[in-house]
Amino acid sequence: MSNSPAAPDLWHRLLGVLRCPLCGTPLAPRGTAPTSLTTLRGVNSLNCAEGHSFDVARQGYLSLLTGNTNAANADSADMVTARTRFLAAGHYEPLARALAGTVAPLCPPDGTVLDAGAGTGYYLATVLDALPDAVGLGLDVSKFALRRAAGAHPRAGAATWDIWKPLPVVSGAADVVINVFAPRNGPEFHRVLRPDGALVVVTPTARHLAELPASLGMLSVDAAKEDRLRRTLSGHFRQERTDVVERQVAMTGPQVCDLILMGPSAHHLGTEEVHRSVASLDTPLPVTVSFHVSVYRPH
Ligand SMILES: C[S@@+](CC[C@H](N)C(=O)[O-])C[C@H]1O[C@@H](n2cnc3c(N)ncnc32)[C@H](O)[C@@H]1O
Ligand SMILES: [Zn+2]
Repeated sequence: MSNSPAAPDLWHRLLGVLRCPLCGTPLAPRGTAPTSLTTLRGVNSLNCAEGHSFDVARQGYLSLLTGNTNAANADSADMVTARTRFLAAGHYEPLARALAGTVAPLCPPDGTVLDAGAGTGYYLATVLDALPDAVGLGLDVSKFALRRAAGAHPRAGAATWDIWKPLPVVSGAADVVINVFAPRNGPEFHRVLRPDGALVVVTPTARHLAELPASLGMLSVDAAKEDRLRRTLSGHFRQERTDVVERQVAMTGPQVCDLILMGPSAHHLGTEEVHRSVASLDTPLPVTVSFHVSVYRPH
């Protein structure tokens, strides 16, 4: 996480991108028309002209999801802790760098990057490091992830949102949408992107984590996934290119545990069960990490 101060006008710029999810009008801290707004820390809520009000969490993220939210796929606190530890080990750093290298030429230096399903903000932060004056907005349904994402980068803000709902974002406001192992809402990604913007999607290839034995209970990657992704997005996007980022890394036992506990398997495996299964492995274990980084352009 970055300790540098937030950009002087970060939230002022993001409020130009965000809209009230209930009525579509602009949001502002109650009673003010800010010309510069650095962080949301110290701001209790944002309101629209129609009187809808959205809380700002103590950790600095904006709670746009109100009422009864279906958070079945939201990362839990334990998953986020495992993810934070795993990412800090650096095994996915080549992916983060490759993603930043893909995004940088597609986005103006002072552009806007939307990370749909941002998690802890790890990838958004790396992308923003490659774009000297861009701002980023991370959306995620997990408040535990957003507590991290809110401080991930001085030029990134974070808000709770469910990607399956219409996004609380002005049409055409994003230069690039990034989506890393998270749900994809093609029609909404298309709407919020500027017409010559880009959607950059990261998915695991069929070789990803291939060495991990089936006994660990990881959900395997279906080889047809990339085709399915292309078909799902084809109504709104054309695939421009796909790069493969692949490495073999040596994973320690605790890292393999974190890898399992940060992912979808965590929804149906217990921590003790994972630790027991991993204890039987010969570690450090050579493991292939393999990803597709795909660029899609709006039709
Ligand atoms: C596998 S994690 C990836 C997080 C991050 N992109 C990364 O790679 O570190 C999937 C993320 O999607 C979020 N998520 C799941 N369903 C969602 C939805 N409907 N709307 C928004 N976020 C969602 C989860 O909370 C989680 O943070
Ligand atoms: Zn409103």
